[in-house]
Amino acid sequence: MVIRNTTRRWGAPAQFLHWLIVLLVIAQFTLALLADDLPAGMRKLSLLSRHKSIGITILGLGLVRLGWRWANPTPSLPATLKPYERGLAKATHPLLYVLLFALPLSGWMMSSARGFPVSWFGFFQLPDLVSKDKSLYDTLVSVHETLAWTLAGIVALHVGAALKHHFMLKDDVLRRMLPSTKPPGTEP
Ligand code: HEM
Ligand code: HEM
Repeated sequence: MVIRNTTRRWGAPAQFLHWLIVLLVIAQFTLALLADDLPAGMRKLSLLSRHKSIGITILGLGLVRLGWRWANPTPSLPATLKPYERGLAKATHPLLYVLLFALPLSGWMMSSARGFPVSWFGFFQLPDLVSKDKSLYDTLVSVHETLAWTLAGIVALHVGAALKHHFMLKDDVLRRMLPSTKPPGTEP
């Protein structure tokens, strides 16, 4: 198992963080959309409270992920990519990171503006980012929703690109984000 990233493949921590965050983002959409369909009440509050805790977890994991990225080499894109494909990868990856931070921060600010403190799975309470303000809350709800659906759109593009790399361009871009099946030391 390769721990550190190399210029040819992602190390195990980078892969683990990528796929864990994917699962948590799926959980976020599921919880928020389930809560959206419910009338105000305990069940809705409990789903949204889990949504908030998982969102804060994504914020923390995103920071760890960026730290790991800065402390390691980054696999280079295949030299065979067309300039527009290279440009798309170079634009969407930073945008995905921006959204992974902007979403939890807008959600956290939204809860503070509503006057609902954010707790992390009931273990501890986070400080309020802004004071209670109804019109700011209304704006942040729209901002949060727009960011969420922008993330869904960019992820669709990102998944399409990963599948194109694997099935059409037949390069190792998807494989290098997956655990290696080759014996240690022989991985690319
Ligand atoms: C990556 C992290 C996050 C994602 C992907 C995400 C995604 C979403 C989505 C898809 C919705 C439903 C939007 C709609 O109805 O169209 C939503 C609603 C909501 N989110 Fe998040 N969210 C994240 C983080 C957070 C955090 C950290 C908080 C608070 C601390 C939060 C608080 C809320 C609240 C309170 C709502 C309900 C808003 C309302 O309609 O009143 N979210 N989120
Ligand atoms: C919530 C969903 C997802 C998010 C937020 C996300 C985010 C990211 C980000 C930010 C990177 C860039 C890593 C870096 O440069 O540090 C990346 C890389 C990658 N993602 Fe995702 N991803 C998601 C889902 C997926 C899915 C479902 C697939 C596969 C079908 C996938 C395949 C890949 C691959 C193969 C790379 C490596 C690209 C390379 O080596 O140049 N991602 N992802």
